[in-house]
Amino acid sequence: MGDVLETERSPIPELPNFDDVKLKSLHGDFLWHTHYSRVMENALDFAHAPFVHAGSFGDKDRPQIAEFTVENHPTGAGATVMVNASAPKGIWSFLASKKPSVIKTRTAFFLPNITVLEVNLVFGRLLIYSAHVPIDDQTTVSKWINLRSFFTGNWADADARKRVLKVFNQDKPIVESQHPKIVPYDLNEELHVQSDALQVEYRKMRRQFFKN
Ligand SMILES: [Fe+2]
Repeated sequence: MGDVLETERSPIPELPNFDDVKLKSLHGDFLWHTHYSRVMENALDFAHAPFVHAGSFGDKDRPQIAEFTVENHPTGAGATVMVNASAPKGIWSFLASKKPSVIKTRTAFFLPNITVLEVNLVFGRLLIYSAHVPIDDQTTVSKWINLRSFFTGNWADADARKRVLKVFNQDKPIVESQHPKIVPYDLNEELHVQSDALQVEYRKMRRQFFKN
């Protein structure tokens, strides 16, 4: 971050699944009226799913977040959590029983602005890579790429796109209402709880890289 020489900038991270021919990809843009640091934290936060995404995949009756460990890598961090999920809906219900489940979910970030979500559904893998591009201090465009290992025909693209946009649109009013719009650099300025560990790591690394 900042005006550093090209040789000192964070490298573009390894994104291994991009070349996997078994994964069907789909991409798009999503506009947020807030600073990209808030969009980053939203993408990393496990704990909002039962509240903000109740019914679409979050399970409001099981809001507990299992303990998890943050794993660091040179330009970011990630965590894997067993997430309580609601029953699959729409065409997904043809692939799995219509029961709530526990789904292995990994979220990770690469500085300065890439997040990865990897969901291991009963019937396959779903990945969302997003580059949260700052337009100005109050505007962000997330350039997203969705990869899926099931329903890999073009016919299912419209449904996959609808699901991505539904989730982003559920996040949008919450993310845009966070103040200040720029995530504070001082960890003491906002209250954190245990399930915020990955966002706290993002804040720490962001501060460390910003000062260098
Ligand atoms: Fe969300």
